[in-house]
Amino acid sequence: MAQLTLALAKGRTATDTLKLLEEANITFPDFDKKSRKLVFYSADQAIKMIYVKAIDVTTYVEQGAADIGIVGRDNILEANADLYELLDLKLGKCRFVIASLKELSMAKGKNIKVASKYPRVAENYFQKKGITAETIKLNGSVELAPIIDMADCIMDIVETGSTIKENGLTILDDVETISTRLVVNKASFATKTQAIQRFIEQIKAVLE
Ligand code: PRP
Repeated sequence: MAQLTLALAKGRTATDTLKLLEEANITFPDFDKKSRKLVFYSADQAIKMIYVKAIDVTTYVEQGAADIGIVGRDNILEANADLYELLDLKLGKCRFVIASLKELSMAKGKNIKVASKYPRVAENYFQKKGITAETIKLNGSVELAPIIDMADCIMDIVETGSTIKENGLTILDDVETISTRLVVNKASFATKTQAIQRFIEQIKAVLE
């Protein structure tokens, strides 16, 4: 039986993460990105990997369905889940930004409409600035919202900057840098300490 269950985020960082795990001697021989299979086992059967949507990784970990999760800090911040964030994998580096079509007055007391895949992060950002913001939750193609006049601005992640540029938006504020992180279920960390620490050490050795 597997010692640990790992929830791995599907999407743009999955290939790099699996490469990093392979360098750390953690391989999943039956993994195939094109397959519809959702559960995979490491070569030594010690790790059961569930391959899930990035936005759901923290839920699996918080619920204890997975002991460990590997996911972007953008999703961790949005989920605000009760778990330990123990390692920066330094992959999938991107930035949280506020962008809009034109200059935007961010004066206190102003009411701003912001579209985002990350409504909690967006709300926190404007709250800290003392600005009242109405957040509109979208699940993708967020850059469209200011173009069709549905929102004044967006809060989104930027990697290469091409989506922002190709849609004629300007970055108004560079909020923070994000990257892929390793998160751990709190109860698992107490009951499976050795196995989790071994897993982390294996990855750390490659990162160093
Ligand atoms: C993300 C993000 C931006 C884009 C940024 O969307 O929400 O739209 O990538 O990347 P870039 O700076 O390299 O252009 P994603 O590709 O995940 O698709 P989505 O719009 O369907 O969410």
